[in-house]
Amino acid sequence: MSSFTLAWHFLIFGVLPYVVIAVLVLGSLARFVLAPFSWKSQSSEILDKKDIFWGANLFHIGVIFLFCGHCFGLFTPTEWLNAAGLTPRLHQMMEIICGGLSAIVAITGLIILTWRRLTNERVRAASRPSDFWVLFLLLAVIILGIGCVVNSYLYDKSGATIILLGGWVRGLFSFDYQAWQNILLVPDWQKAHIFVGLIIFLIVPFTRLVHIWSGYLSVFYLIRPHQIMRANNGKPMK
Ligand code: HEM
Repeated sequence: MSSFTLAWHFLIFGVLPYVVIAVLVLGSLARFVLAPFSWKSQSSEILDKKDIFWGANLFHIGVIFLFCGHCFGLFTPTEWLNAAGLTPRLHQMMEIICGGLSAIVAITGLIILTWRRLTNERVRAASRPSDFWVLFLLLAVIILGIGCVVNSYLYDKSGATIILLGGWVRGLFSFDYQAWQNILLVPDWQKAHIFVGLIIFLIVPFTRLVHIWSGYLSVFYLIRPHQIMRANNGKPMK
């Protein structure tokens, strides 16, 4: 491998992930503080209710399953999986079946949403360029994700790729400066998928995707203290 190829692998898979995390956290905080009223999903439901029900629900259900699958697959240490009897091949098959089904649900919703945004005049007129970019990037990342699982199924009979990818992610979070080298051995489908995934996280603070935080943080609603409503006289309302 040439030193040029090594250098761009290092930049994309060794440096970019940290840049993305910094921009994601600091950029989102800055938007929350400086432009709190822009913090929204920019829902277009009011302009047209017809297709949004199936589009938004299918997409979000698929993506929530994909998110859980990515966390489980990438963050669980290989020793734990082995101890539970989940060999790399079984792990890979589980990912292909569960991830593949979630991907089909998510992409069906996304196609409905993209079609609606392109063809509904009211929705299109109210869209900003970034709304189209977000849809385009999401379509690209899911299509590349499906390409990854098909490629794994056909050409990786041992499940080695998923082990390398898990090693890369856990290595990044434990500040192992050699973690990026895992990516040198994975197929190009995976490299392209991860690159587009990183770009999506990078633009979160600057687009409607910022509402992802609200989605995940809304679980705290379940454990928040009761709100006490008081009348003008200061007594709790009945
Ligand atoms: C930096 C962010 C991301 C990383 C590191 C990542 C990593 C991965 C990995 C390692 C796989 C398995 C590839 C294989 O089979 O060898 C995968 C699959 C997939 N990813 Fe991602 N991904 C990211 C973001 C996303 C996003 C934002 C989406 C969609 C919204 C997505 C959708 C998918 C889909 C549909 C699959 C195929 C089904 C599955 O295996 O779960 N990914 N991703």
